[in-house]
Order: sequence, then structure tokens, then C-alpha cells
Amino acid sequence: MYIHIAGTGSAVPQRVLTNDDLAKMVDTSDEWIVSHTGIRQRHVVGPDENASTLGCEAARRALEDAGVAPEELGTIIVTSTTPDYAIYPSTACVIQGMLGAKNAAAFDLSAACPGFVYGVTVAKGLLQIDDRPILVISTEIMSRTINWSDRNTCCLFGDGAGAVVLKKSEQPGGLGFHLIGADGTGAMAIHREGGVRTEETARNAPGDLKMDGRAVFNFAVRSFCDIIAKSLEHYGYTEKDIAWIVPHQANTRIIDAAVKRINVPVEKFYVNIDRFANTSSASIPIALDEMSKKGLLHKGDRLIFAAFGAGLVYGGLLVEWTK
Ligand code: UT7
Repeated sequence: MYIHIAGTGSAVPQRVLTNDDLAKMVDTSDEWIVSHTGIRQRHVVGPDENASTLGCEAARRALEDAGVAPEELGTIIVTSTTPDYAIYPSTACVIQGMLGAKNAAAFDLSAACPGFVYGVTVAKGLLQIDDRPILVISTEIMSRTINWSDRNTCCLFGDGAGAVVLKKSEQPGGLGFHLIGADGTGAMAIHREGGVRTEETARNAPGDLKMDGRAVFNFAVRSFCDIIAKSLEHYGYTEKDIAWIVPHQANTRIIDAAVKRINVPVEKFYVNIDRFANTSSASIPIALDEMSKKGLLHKGDRLIFAAFGAGLVYGGLLVEWTK
């Protein structure tokens, strides 16, 4: 039994904020942002958009691409650091209702930027005990969590959603080796209050996203190298056996630093951070959908997804493209 990515979809808000727009709001410049991150613009939601509206749009496109009706779904998994409601109802339940996926179980999964890789890995496990297709949606409204007067973070993030439909198949290919892990000693390197940790955090509005950029950067480079090396090692592959690395889109300098340490040419890393910035867990499925729609993926191509983020967590997955 194999598990295939049967369909992909994505959705981003129409409104675009360029680096020059940001330079009018904080002490920064297009030159600094491009040279330090590779980002040129980001999409930002309007007042009526949120994680469920964007996620639902991406999901509808993925279902259409897969030729799967909402009623056929067995489970919907949503990954988001920016859910509609802090704890409940889950964004997965809200989207399940919007889609009319009345036979599907629905739950949210919290694994920050590697959420998509974690979500697909959990789905892979669930498909061992339930034959019905699973929808994994990653949807993020980062613009509502950042301090727009903090130049250290406000230029880094964007909004968007990506989704995939996973289906069982008798044909070889699809989801392969996965590597998920965490280093909880770095839990505070990226954090945002808003939980029920203390009386004060429970009663007050969540603060802004806070980040130790350098610590995350170092963890990110280590994670990318580890994921790629272990995925290749698992099958005895070399970089020649891999068509694409689809990295979490956080910073082109993280990719450059990883490339210096491993034997994979930079051209094999798919990069779209210039147009979308860091959309947290949505970044890999948005990239995947874009690659698929551009005709960059061919049957038999091997891809490695590689992600890292708050927790600190990392997640990697090797996929053989089957569409
Ligand atoms: O999904 C996971 C999320 N997080 C990440 O992936 C973050 C990983 N880390 C990074 O990408 C990088 O560490 C950053 C892009 C966040 C920062 O780049 P850096 O090269 O590590 O810069 P820095 O933090 O060392 O700051 C260098 C200088 C500082 O000025 P001083 O203190 O040296 O005078 C900052 O204040 O750059 C300044 N700076 C800026 N200047 C202009 C920071 N942000 C900006 C800005 N515009 N937007």
C-alpha cells in the first residue's frame, strides 16, 4: 500500500505589501530586507479574511485537483499558528463545516512552521487504519501576530494557505521516509503568549511574536542538513537521485548556509520567498502547488520537504511524485 499526493491547492490574499511599503512604516530598506532574507514582498489579509477562509479556498482547489468530493474525506487536519479561535473550536472543524465534509473527523495540529510535514506524517499513520482520503491544510495569517513597528520581525512574514489531498494507492511512489523531531530546550526562541500558562496570560490578549533570529537561524541550518543527509542515507541515494528540495521558506541565507555544508546544488532548492515571505506552515504546500501548476514536477521525481520552526521542531519528508 502506497500513499499518494493526489491533489494540491493554495490561496493567498490579493493585497501585497512591498519592502518599499514597509520602509515607510519602520526604519528599514528594500536593500536590507533583500540582502538579509531574499524577501521582496508579502501578501497580507484584508479585514474579512482569516485562517479558515484562506484555508477553505486552498482546500477546495486541492479537492478539485484530486477529483475528491468533500463527503469522501475521512479526516481533515489543519496546521496553523494563527487559528481563528485560540483553543476551540479547531480551525479544522470550522473548515469541515464550510466544505460540507460531513463524514470527516477534524482536528488541528500544532507544530509551527513544520506543521505541514508533521500533518502529512500523522495522515500517513492514519491511512494505515482508515482507507478514506485525508485533507491536510496549512493556513497562516502571520500579519495579525507581528508587531508592525518592530523592524526585526515585521519584514519577515506573510499570509497564505496551502493544502494537499492524500489517497491510498496500489501504485508505487508517494510518501516515503520521514523525519520529525524537536528540541524543547529551545522552546522560547520563537514564542507568542496567549495561552493559559498563568492567570495574567490567560486574561490578557496575546502579545506579538517574539524571536531570537540568530538561534533559529543556526537550528534551521542544522535541521536542513540533517533532514537532507538522513533522507539520502535512508535509501542510499545521492543528490542526483533528487529532483527538488522544497524547503520551508524562511530566509534564502539559511538555504545558502546549508548548501555550503552539503553536496546539493542551490538550483535544486525551490525558492519563492521573494514573493510570499515566510508563511510558516503554509510555505511548503504553497511552493508545492506552485511547482505543480508551473509543470515543474514530473512523475517519478523525488522531492525532499525540509522545515524547522518554533518549538523548536523540525520535519522532513521524501516524496516520489506520482501525478
Ligand atoms: O519560520 C521560522 C522563523 N524564523 C526564522 O527563520 C528566522 C531565522 N533568522 C533569520 O532569518 C535572521 O536571523 C534575521 C533575518 C531574523 C536577522 O538577520 P541577521 O543577519 O541575523 O541580523 P541581526 O539580527 O544580527 O541584526 C543585524 C542588524 C541589527 O542592527 P545592530 O544591532 O547591529 O545595529 C538589527 O537591528 O540589522 C538590524 N536589523 C535591520 N535593519 C534594517 C534587523 N532587522 C532590520 C531591518 N531593516 N528590517
